[in-house]
Amino acid sequence: MTQPALDLAAVSKSFDGFPALAGASFSVAAGEVHALLGENGAGKSSLMNVAAGLYRPDSGVIRVDGREVAIDGPVAAKRLGIGMVHQHYKLVKAFSAVENILLACGKGRFAGAAAVEQAIRRQAEAIGFQVDLRRPVGALSVAEQQRVEILKVLVEGARILILDEPSAVLTDKEAEALLGMMRQLAAQGAAVVLVTHKLGEVKRFADRVTVMRGGRTIATADPKARTVAELTSMIVGELVAEKRHPARDVGEPILTLEGVAGCRADGHRVLADASFALRRGEIYGIAGVGGNGQTELAEILMGVRKPVQGRIAIDGTGDVTHDGASRRRDLGLASIPADRQTYGLAGELSVADNYAVQAVRSGGLGGWMRVDGRAAQAQAATAVSAFEVQGVRGLRQKASLLSGGNAQKLVIAREFASQPRIVVAHSPSRGLDMRAAGAVHRRLREARDAGAGVLLISEDLDEVMLLSDRIGVMSGGRIVREFDTPADRQAIGTAMVHHG
Ligand SMILES: Nc1ncnc2c1ncn2[C@@H]1O[C@H](COP(=O)(O)OP(=O)(O)OP(=O)(O)O)[C@@H](O)[C@H]1O
Ligand SMILES: [Mg+2]
Repeated sequence: MTQPALDLAAVSKSFDGFPALAGASFSVAAGEVHALLGENGAGKSSLMNVAAGLYRPDSGVIRVDGREVAIDGPVAAKRLGIGMVHQHYKLVKAFSAVENILLACGKGRFAGAAAVEQAIRRQAEAIGFQVDLRRPVGALSVAEQQRVEILKVLVEGARILILDEPSAVLTDKEAEALLGMMRQLAAQGAAVVLVTHKLGEVKRFADRVTVMRGGRTIATADPKARTVAELTSMIVGELVAEKRHPARDVGEPILTLEGVAGCRADGHRVLADASFALRRGEIYGIAGVGGNGQTELAEILMGVRKPVQGRIAIDGTGDVTHDGASRRRDLGLASIPADRQTYGLAGELSVADNYAVQAVRSGGLGGWMRVDGRAAQAQAATAVSAFEVQGVRGLRQKASLLSGGNAQKLVIAREFASQPRIVVAHSPSRGLDMRAAGAVHRRLREARDAGAGVLLISEDLDEVMLLSDRIGVMSGGRIVREFDTPADRQAIGTAMVHHG
């Protein structure tokens, strides 16, 4: 093996006395794509945050091109050519791509916005990225925001590129394109680290794979020489493959949409005319290529975005088209948003408070003014253990400190506490490891089997196929076709791309 571009040796890091990293070692060479795997909370992001200068290690040695270095902050990391695209993007939403990148590069590197814009355009062209550089990034799709993040680190001159779960937010096709691009950058001499939960892409795109468990790196291997099953057992031990469990007792429609239309933040109408009925006791899956109105549909159903047209009705209640989020909750609608950082959790609040808000609202803890703090703690503790939320040191810990996957488990624990009649789940297993995704799927099925109607909106076609009792394909802001299950994957794929 050639000399590593980046070499982390025996790195340890504790937070409040709890080790997130316990002697982890990892290296990546120029020209290779090295995948980093591990369950939620294993320490992947933490280890890479050490390389990117966001976390100062308690001990350990970092070498860049064979030379020992001290990375005492993000600026030092950038200077060494290390660039990281984080799991949760760090863009300023009100700023355009150009402004964000100018901000990140700091003064001095470019002579003003025009020069930066030119550098970005050149970089975008070189790697075949299309993205609107002038629109506020908050109005861009997640895939576009990711491209902005990648362009940012490339324009900053990174040659050691760390991508923390980049494909979690992408469709199959987008992910293929992105990873193909990373291979190309590696061929041109970049060292690429790919943090991921997706073993298929590891096998296709990575040269080496390192597995983490409990803050340690436990093995490094050639992914081509291992089967997916072998990689899986390296990560989690033995795991049984998930099977389909069709609905047993489907009832009347509980949630009906007629001609619902909605706009994106920038006023663009992306949800055109959505009509479908979700029935009690079924999982209705919405499949589609990202950006065809799924996000707007989910937001409208959760009550955080107003429809501009159409009608939404809940059985037994009637029209709820103009009701807000809290009334919909009172009517038994639970929601698992894709963007858990914005809508799912209040990061600054503790784990216990994030769990309790729902119960406090519904009066389950003794009303607003006299919240039963002890009961709240006890309920949160039970839920945290039942839903296997890991990395919780205490219920007072801030929710923002949970790893990506564990934050999602906390949202789900809270939403399912109230025995909802309707569940709207948008990409519920995004960023979850296999065990956690399996647990989420089990909860969705349990809710269905208890009589709830479950609406699953997911860009992961495998997930939709695995869970759904009926499937609606969304394209151009409409449901263009419905399928009974088991359905033909090919036919669904065709409907996804040949409409709208
Ligand atoms: N700033 C922090 N303060 C306190 N604890 C932290 C901090 N950053 C990470 N941790 C803890 O370190 C552990 C490892 O977290 P990390 O985010 O590295 O996991 P991960 O492997 O990236 O998981 P995921 O796949 O869910 O993203 C977790 O228990 C997490 O709660
Ligand atoms: Mg992570």
